[in-house]
Amino acid sequence: SWRLSDFADEAVQRIRGIVGDRRVICGLSGGVDSSVVAALLYRAIGDQLSCILIDNGLLRKNEQSLVIDEFSNHFKTDLHVVDAEDRFLADLAGITEPQEKRRRIGHAFIECFKDEAEKIENAHFLAQGTLYPDVIESGADPDGPAATIKLHHNVGGLPDELGFELIEPLRDLFKDEVRRLGLELGLPESLVWRHPFPGPGLAVRCLGEVTRDKLAILREADAIVVQEIQDAGLYRETSQAFAVLLPVQSVGVMGDARTYDRAVAVRCVNTDDFMTADWSHLPYDLLAKISTRIINEVKGINRVCYDISSKPPATIEWE
Ligand code: XMP
Repeated sequence: SWRLSDFADEAVQRIRGIVGDRRVICGLSGGVDSSVVAALLYRAIGDQLSCILIDNGLLRKNEQSLVIDEFSNHFKTDLHVVDAEDRFLADLAGITEPQEKRRRIGHAFIECFKDEAEKIENAHFLAQGTLYPDVIESGADPDGPAATIKLHHNVGGLPDELGFELIEPLRDLFKDEVRRLGLELGLPESLVWRHPFPGPGLAVRCLGEVTRDKLAILREADAIVVQEIQDAGLYRETSQAFAVLLPVQSVGVMGDARTYDRAVAVRCVNTDDFMTADWSHLPYDLLAKISTRIINEVKGINRVCYDISSKPPATIEWE
């Protein structure tokens, strides 16, 4: 029978055979796939692994330090953290169109990654967290609708022109197998069960133009959404849960004063494959707590809406 510990042992042997004494680079995103790739490579080749984390300024609250902590708890190897917030935000200034935001973020990501990778000596391989479903999808009609939909989801992917030989040790696995492999390799449950987070990050949840101020507000509201869902014990059974900063201002009243502040939408969905999704039927008490906390604690927000649209016809993200 199919056992993941056997898979891990065989993958380790295979990787050692391929890599020899050369160096492998792995991009870390904080997500499940890249963390499992890094853990597997670390087991195979130890300090011949270099990891790169690009902080594009579009990460969630405390995300950079979370990734660094997890990383240094699990793999004692070479980690390069690139603080590229200024660069990404400069590229996004004045841009409101969602696909143009994605295009610019994807481009900046490749440039930053390349600049950092060039500093790493003897680097020969690039490890990527490609899964079996990605392999199948990319084998489909390249001009078909599925290819187009997938394209905008591949911002984190790196092109051949970087000149590295690819290592894709998860190519034969489905997502649930990757999670089990992660646990087998000693990664914590909190990481293995983390919700997916899009490559363009908070940029596609900050509707319209992305600015530092809007991101700061969104980050606080988003952290409250996630924390309350975790505290209610509903994180695992929810597929994604986050806040979206809306491009409207509305009137409110705080004490004696009239406010004219921003609104956030709370988006929580349940799905098996992310192609279709239902909005999560969260308890009213939980929604009430999320709303009260956001309005009381996040300066600049005076209204919270709950998104009750399914996919299709709505998408999970708002942009
Ligand atoms: P939608 O909004 O298309 O999202 O229903 C489906 C899933 O894909 C994620 N998503 C992205 N992931 N880059 C990514 O890496 C992207 O540009 C992107 N857009 C959407 C979304 O979070 C959901 O899990």
